[in-house]
Amino acid sequence: MVNYVEAKGKARRTAGIIPLHGEAGFASMRKASRLTAEALDLLTDHVRPGVTTAALDKLAYDFARAHDAVPATLFYKGYRHSICTSINHVVCHGIPDERPLREGDIVNIDLTLIVDGWYGDSSRMYAVGEISRKAERLIEVTYESLEAGLAAAKPGNTTGDIGAAIQQHAEAERTSVVRDFVGHGLGQLFHDEPNIMHFGTPGTGPELKPGMIFTIEPMINLGRPHVKILSDGWTAVTRDRTLSAQCEHSIGITETGHEIFTASPRGIFNSLAARP
Ligand code: MF3
Ligand code: CO
Ligand code: CO
Repeated sequence: MVNYVEAKGKARRTAGIIPLHGEAGFASMRKASRLTAEALDLLTDHVRPGVTTAALDKLAYDFARAHDAVPATLFYKGYRHSICTSINHVVCHGIPDERPLREGDIVNIDLTLIVDGWYGDSSRMYAVGEISRKAERLIEVTYESLEAGLAAAKPGNTTGDIGAAIQQHAEAERTSVVRDFVGHGLGQLFHDEPNIMHFGTPGTGPELKPGMIFTIEPMINLGRPHVKILSDGWTAVTRDRTLSAQCEHSIGITETGHEIFTASPRGIFNSLAARP
């Protein structure tokens, strides 16, 4: 049976209804997400001291256009860039600019590419030259927290099981989970049902079913979890100015578990191998 999502495409988010996608949707997600992951792989070669985030933004834009893709954030709610670049104490939605990256910075690059109307959304941490041991550890814990969430992403579990697994790992490592931003369903929409919180109580929230497609994208802080938004209306920073890290995959729930759509073709989506 073909549901509305596959037959017509989806014009807008319907509150409370979690779309279930079939094989065609999964195939489209694979294509969009692979391109996103290839772009993030490519950026690994360019993150180094002296490079501006604006230059990285242009690389992502040019890569997208060369592959018949459109960056989803371009003109999204007034945002004017192809990527978000969140440096050090920036939690998410950092805006690319002309300031050069400096040795020791850690930066999250978040990219969503639209291919044939489908959205592939992923982000990773990049180290600029040599970074401190505590920054390295934060990146490791963040990646492990995403992995803990992924391990809970299977039919029969709930969205709360994912959040609880992430929170459990992050807090066991004496870091904190940002509450203000969540993972999200996606497909032919950028942000759809369900919301995926990165904290919570096991067994709560909607049950995971084969065909659901969503992101998991924990933001983990070395200090307290609280954030504030700067006057540009986008940049979210830690209130206590401690370091923050994030990583994000787009996944689909399968009969037996999940499929990671945004896995790195080069196999470099992990904290240490992502270092240039
Ligand atoms: N890619 C982000 C996400 O993971 C959304 C960025 S919206 C922007 O959902 F406008 F800030 F770019
Ligand atoms: Co996302
Ligand atoms: Co994203």
